[in-house]
Amino acid sequence: MNDQAARLRRMIEDKHPRSDNKSNNIQENSKPEKLSANRGPRTIAITSGKGGVGKTNLTVNLAIALGNMGKRVIIIDADMGMANVDILLGTTSRINLMSLLESDVALEDVLLRGPYGVSYISGGSGMEHAMELTSTERDILFRKLAGCEEWADIILIDTGAGIGGNVLDFISAADEVLLITTPEPTALTDAYAVMKGYSSISDNPNLKLIVNRVIDEPEIREVVGTLSRTAERFLKISVECLGYIYDDQMMIKSVRQQVPVMAGYPESISSRCILSIAKGLLNGHQEKVKLGWRGFLKRIFRS
Ligand SMILES: Nc1ncnc2c1ncn2[C@@H]1O[C@H](COP(=O)(O)OP(=O)(O)OP(=O)(O)O)[C@@H](O)[C@H]1O
Ligand SMILES: [Mg+2]
Repeated sequence: MNDQAARLRRMIEDKHPRSDNKSNNIQENSKPEKLSANRGPRTIAITSGKGGVGKTNLTVNLAIALGNMGKRVIIIDADMGMANVDILLGTTSRINLMSLLESDVALEDVLLRGPYGVSYISGGSGMEHAMELTSTERDILFRKLAGCEEWADIILIDTGAGIGGNVLDFISAADEVLLITTPEPTALTDAYAVMKGYSSISDNPNLKLIVNRVIDEPEIREVVGTLSRTAERFLKISVECLGYIYDDQMMIKSVRQQVPVMAGYPESISSRCILSIAKGLLNGHQEKVKLGWRGFLKRIFRS
């Protein structure tokens, strides 16, 4: 769809708000505002080499922090089959991205409005099997998902760990990549493998590190120094650190309670670290030519 058509559709929809929304997933009064500016959302993939290092917690809490700062955020739970986002929010969703293939299911039906103002789409196996879909099916997903750009300023994609499956496709299709690691040697080795895979297939690598579960500042410096020096030397890419999150009992407690730490314990050290990462994302953002959400979808669905 061209820009003019999109503008026109927005004008019509603004005058005649849809009344045929079958689902109550997004309550009429809590619908995120549509984009007025004609610019696509930032598409940020959150990934890791090793599993269990904090991707989903970062994604969900970052979404809450950015939401509190006035940004409209959509999470795509692309960690297939794990429904991680649901678990952290204490929700269950039976509808997912694949449901869009049904003719009577619209984006608004799969765009779930969770607690704490978090909007998200469960990935199901939709993106994982993108290559196995027929071109018509891919076209349907592309067309319906493209509508996300009207509902979001930022799209956060929670990917699976490692470089298997479609993870590298996801991260190379996104405008920005946040690579999260803990200081553990195994996590660092796996993080390096992601950097290597990503830099080998990305035309314009844009990767920032987040170090999670740190104990003190010397540890942060060591992790960032090791990874950035290795990346510079062997991969010829520069990697900066966007932030760090201290190891925090409140984070563990919040996961058990299924209440994101940013909502349940906003004053905790981990919440404050995530808030600072959110600020860094908004303030330190360099304006670059972006592929945006449609560019991401095109690469995933080759539409
Ligand atoms: N800053 C932290 N302090 C203490 N514990 C943490 C911290 N971050 C994460 N954890 C612990 O690590 C666990 C795994 O976190 P999370 O589910 O976010 O990881 P993940 O990378 O998404 O995992 P997966 O690869 O399985 O999707 C959490 O349940 C929590 O117990
Ligand atoms: Mg996860």
